[in-house]
Amino acid sequence: MINKEQMDSLFNEAQKIALKAYSPYSKFRVGAALLCEDGTVITGVNVENRSFGLTTCAERNAVCTAIAKGFQRFIALAVSTPDSVEPVGPCGACRQVLSEFMQGETPVRFAGSGVNQVNTTVGELYPLDSLHELKS
Ligand code: THU
Repeated sequence: MINKEQMDSLFNEAQKIALKAYSPYSKFRVGAALLCEDGTVITGVNVENRSFGLTTCAERNAVCTAIAKGFQRFIALAVSTPDSVEPVGPCGACRQVLSEFMQGETPVRFAGSGVNQVNTTVGELYPLDSLHELKS
């Protein structure tokens, strides 16, 4: 389990990378930072396209980058949405992808530019997951 300082630092990485998002259509930047078991941090941003449906979210881009670099086990995720004051959580598709690679108890923090932040878990975001809780 990671401590508050580690989560603060991971969220800081998400905030920094969010500024590199490619989101000219929504003007909504998202940065994700995944903490790997060995301490490596892998980041991702949302990448939009003029064919809107081809947009990929920051969280899934971070997961795909991590997998390609040989990391498959993650102990925390932080997501920053600097263009919203309030926290905006991962979309439904991302929740399923996160649950493929992260345990239900894995901590997740997301926050916007304001003071409010949500500290939750993959299991709360994606409950009753057959890969986890329902597996015997
Ligand atoms: N977006 C993410 O990157 N992650 C989420 O979980 C929510 C939505 C992106 C997709 C799109 O580029 C923009 O935010 C607005 O929906």
